[in-house]
Amino acid sequence: QRTLTVGLLGLGVVGSGVATLLRDHADEIAGRVGARLEIGPVVVRDVNKSRDVDVAVTDDVSTVVGAEGVDIVVEVMGGIDPARELLTRALKAGQSVVTANKELISTHGAELLTAAQEHSVRLEYEAAVAGAIPIIKPMRESLAGDRVRKVLGILNGTTNYILTRMTEEGAELAPVLADAQALGYAEADPTADVGGHDAAAKAAILASLAFDAHVVRDDVYTEGIMSVTATDIANAKRMGYVIKLLGIAEEHEDASIGVRVHPAWIPTSHPLASIREAYNAIFVEADAAGDLMFYGRGAGSLPTASAVVGDVVTAARAMLAGERLPSVAVADKPIRPVDEEI
Ligand code: NAP
Ligand code: HSE
Repeated sequence: QRTLTVGLLGLGVVGSGVATLLRDHADEIAGRVGARLEIGPVVVRDVNKSRDVDVAVTDDVSTVVGAEGVDIVVEVMGGIDPARELLTRALKAGQSVVTANKELISTHGAELLTAAQEHSVRLEYEAAVAGAIPIIKPMRESLAGDRVRKVLGILNGTTNYILTRMTEEGAELAPVLADAQALGYAEADPTADVGGHDAAAKAAILASLAFDAHVVRDDVYTEGIMSVTATDIANAKRMGYVIKLLGIAEEHEDASIGVRVHPAWIPTSHPLASIREAYNAIFVEADAAGDLMFYGRGAGSLPTASAVVGDVVTAARAMLAGERLPSVAVADKPIRPVDEEI
């Protein structure tokens, strides 16, 4: 049986989960792909750190990026630099790329997708939005014959975990954030979570797919949860509401697009009100399909790794079938400033 080699950039929370799934599910994956997926070189920053998974590590990126014999590059390092440059090099060298990096995709996704197109390889990023929840492929493929009007979701596990504990236990934000970090939900810099920027990146990616547009993270009006107090939550509760950090993307009648992230009061009867802990949920309103809801774990090692390894399977199958990334037409739609719509 043929073997494809998967090189990893990063072996932290997500990378460890990816290595674990590739190893523990190797036989099933081989059956589904028609080739064995072997873990190749694994690049980390600190080769002396103790690891949860037993794989050899290196700090030499050239063993993965552009390396002879590495077919698929999985980027789970995070951040823009050096990920942007490394992934561009990998795509140009003919390697397919899978990434969980919403910061990168929401800012430089268009240029990376173009590079993938030009070099007839795949760029997959299912785990960049809402962890384990399949949402990129449904938006890109299953809904390709429909017209999406609005996307509304709880897109950040850390803040939903914090707000859940503040609501249910009357907890304060700071100690609960420390718990979210210990559980592997938070970003390396958790201000991206509590400041709403992580959710804004995901909202931009979803808006781009939903509306065939070019929406970047900076287009998104962003307000985090730092100013939400226990008193706000108690007041909301008394009136039959919960406070959730929502990402909202919609296309207006005039074809302009509005994307925003902010804490919102939601009636307890609304399905989004029941989304607890680090779970995420995404509502999609489409013309023909009507309302759809996607729900699942939005963060964490194995849930996120599930989406990453699913993408590795997609890339491997495409490679074996000689398929390239479908080309995508991007419309030049105006982004409407948020103060016109709140
Ligand atoms: P993490 O635990 O901080 O792991 C990052 C890994 O990348 C570490 O192994 C680190 O090496 C390595 N690394 C970082 N910079 C590097 C560099 N310049 N050169 C070589 N190696 C480098 O991060 P994570 O939580 O796994 O997140 C990874 C990515 O997945 C991010 O883009 C994040 O936004 C995304 N994501 C995370 C989750 C989640 O639940 N955590 C969910 C969805 C998406 P060392 O181990 O030596 O420090
Ligand atoms: N820090 C992110 C979150 C990880 O809490 O949702 C998943 O993208």
